[in-house]
Amino acid sequence: MQRGNHYLFTRSESALTQNSLSHGTAVKLTGDWGASVGSKQSHELQVSKATVLGENDAEGNPLQPKYQTPEHLRTIPHLRARLPTNALVLRLRSQLIAALTNFFNQEDFVQTHTPIITSSDCEGAGEVFTVSSNAAKDSIQKSKPEDEAQVEHFFRTTKYLTVSAQLHLEALAQAVSKVWTLSPTFRAELSDTPRHLSEFYMLEAEMCFVHDLGEIMDLVENMLRSAVAALQASPIWGELLKMKQAMPREDVEDDRFVGVEALQQRWGGLAARDWPRISYSDAILILGDAYSKDPARFAFEPFYADGLQVEHERYLASAIGQGKPLFVTDYPTMQKPFYMAPSVPATDGTGPLHTVACFDLLVPDLCELVGGSLREHRSQELMAAMQLKGVAGNNLGWYQDLRKYGSVPHGGFGLGFDRLVCYLAGVSNVRDVVAFPRWHRRCDC
Ligand code: 4AD
Ligand code: MG
Repeated sequence: MQRGNHYLFTRSESALTQNSLSHGTAVKLTGDWGASVGSKQSHELQVSKATVLGENDAEGNPLQPKYQTPEHLRTIPHLRARLPTNALVLRLRSQLIAALTNFFNQEDFVQTHTPIITSSDCEGAGEVFTVSSNAAKDSIQKSKPEDEAQVEHFFRTTKYLTVSAQLHLEALAQAVSKVWTLSPTFRAELSDTPRHLSEFYMLEAEMCFVHDLGEIMDLVENMLRSAVAALQASPIWGELLKMKQAMPREDVEDDRFVGVEALQQRWGGLAARDWPRISYSDAILILGDAYSKDPARFAFEPFYADGLQVEHERYLASAIGQGKPLFVTDYPTMQKPFYMAPSVPATDGTGPLHTVACFDLLVPDLCELVGGSLREHRSQELMAAMQLKGVAGNNLGWYQDLRKYGSVPHGGFGLGFDRLVCYLAGVSNVRDVVAFPRWHRRCDC
């Protein structure tokens, strides 16, 4: 091994094989930092001493210094974060949280922590994970071996991992008026798409004394615009652009690749003012028109009662949004959960109402990023909606209490935080912006 003005190892030379300095070895380098004679960088380190801190099994290392597909990298989540692109996404995520925290502070929102273990399925969609305890089962089996069928719940009745913090946020908003949280959320959905995870982070906010859905949409717009402005003013934006420019050919040739121009459009759309807002019924008319002109463009014909397919959302986001995010409002009551307030207040208090005061925020490619609504704050009307949706008996007595004791008009939203990171990073699959992603049949480490 060469000595003198090049490398000086602190370990015995016999132990220093070629592999000691392979790609992936952890080293401490000491030397002079100065202007580079090479053209590829401005500075370089003239190393006078190198110490191996952590050895690397170069041949066995699943992370190799060559192009590796995202699918392969998903099999080694414990190692792939070290790739510069993944490390950049980690930093983007962290700075995004800081920017959003700053925004909510400035707007006088109180950050709160809502429970992970809950008694009910907030969305009423039945996509919940049930919580069980081995300890409780073991003790019951030991004490009553003859009665193996009996299972004692740790919390006495069935509990679930939360699907949304919303209901608890509504309780807290009534104390301090404006609240938000960024919490883990769990959904046992079978959806195998680039947008769905079984465990993801949802940013949720709830505001009291809100009568108009427009106020909630304004909050979402201001929040995202402010976060994007903060990130654009920081070095991370330039780093992202540089990373895009240096992406390997294999990634660039992938249909799903988001290039520099597309990324600039995304950020530009979020930074722009006055995002378009259209009603669900107008969206159906627009889609009907597009379908009649070019049916081959769609796999599903759009019908009012059927809801929007992802391909419909994608069409609307690009045709109407024109680069800006698009709010679609006032969906049919039957398509939405029990807690949403009607679009038009009932005058006679009877009969199912047709649409609810809600919105979905759609962005190009990714589609739904945020969902929000005014909440039904009237006691009897909430009870009627819960009965209609068949959730009245679902351990939600406490939620009905909120309406009995000084309820005020309020509303809020939930944003898929990992989807937002995905959109901002220009990564095509949410499984690649979450360090340790979980989805149906996959929870590796
Ligand atoms: O539209 P969702 O289901 O709304 C709620 O849960 C409301 N209770 C939120 C509220 O009003 N406080 O979910 C909100 C957002 C979606 O728009 C989507 O971006 C994201 O959460 N989301 C998912 N992200 C990743 N994987 C999944 N399986 C997701 N399901 C929803
Ligand atoms: Mg939704």
